[in-house]
Amino acid sequence: MVALKERWPSLILVFVMLVVKLWRKKSKLRSALIFSQNCCCNFGLNSVQPNTANLTSLPKVVVDPKAKTSNDTVRAWRRREEEIMAKVKLTVNGRAVSGDCEERTLLVHFIREKLGLTGTHVGCDTNQCGACVVHMDGKSVKSCSILAVQASGSTITTIEGLANNGELHPVQAAFKEHHGLQCGFCTPGMVMTAVDMISRHGGDLDEKTVRHELDGNICRCTGYHNIVKAVLSANEQMRGTAKQAAE
Ligand code: FES
Ligand code: FES
Repeated sequence: MVALKERWPSLILVFVMLVVKLWRKKSKLRSALIFSQNCCCNFGLNSVQPNTANLTSLPKVVVDPKAKTSNDTVRAWRRREEEIMAKVKLTVNGRAVSGDCEERTLLVHFIREKLGLTGTHVGCDTNQCGACVVHMDGKSVKSCSILAVQASGSTITTIEGLANNGELHPVQAAFKEHHGLQCGFCTPGMVMTAVDMISRHGGDLDEKTVRHELDGNICRCTGYHNIVKAVLSANEQMRGTAKQAAE
């Protein structure tokens, strides 16, 4: 009896601890119950069936009926990829080149990415800025507006093909002399357009014509003044040869 009297505080403590433990367990159960009641499954969403009517408009996945494993399917996709690849053959800057590309590949991307000729720039990809101008069979074209497959079989000259044995083309030299560039991003397209312009007009250019013909080339830096000066200067130098070429 004496021993029990001495131990009653510890017994009360054990009892309190038991009560606290039970209470905690109960609140955990309660929260789990509340969560399960409020989660999406119990908002009635699990009873909503997918609207299969909408699924009919989705593209069907075509599985090769002969495919036995997923590797067969992968191989089938690769074959399909090869089928849609096109072979492009060009003569670029006097060199015969060829390469495979997707049919949708633009000429500018073929030149830059397949041939590594990054002098031709992409400023807009939408036929506006003229940074991508190259010569195709002697005429200036915006290479972002032509598919590589369309150009197949033609002769292409890019900015890299203008200099001769390390000597700048007269138009390049004139741009350098008259500071016809600042950042230089538009310059390859400007130069290629100018070369074509001078040869088309047989060296017979005036400022108005140059400004009009540069309509399709956008420069964000120079204000065009020095570009026009450079083209007119190159025109003077090339007059003789340009006349002969035009005749
Ligand atoms: S990139 Fe071709 S016109 Fe701009
Ligand atoms: S020099 Fe910079 S865009 Fe023409």
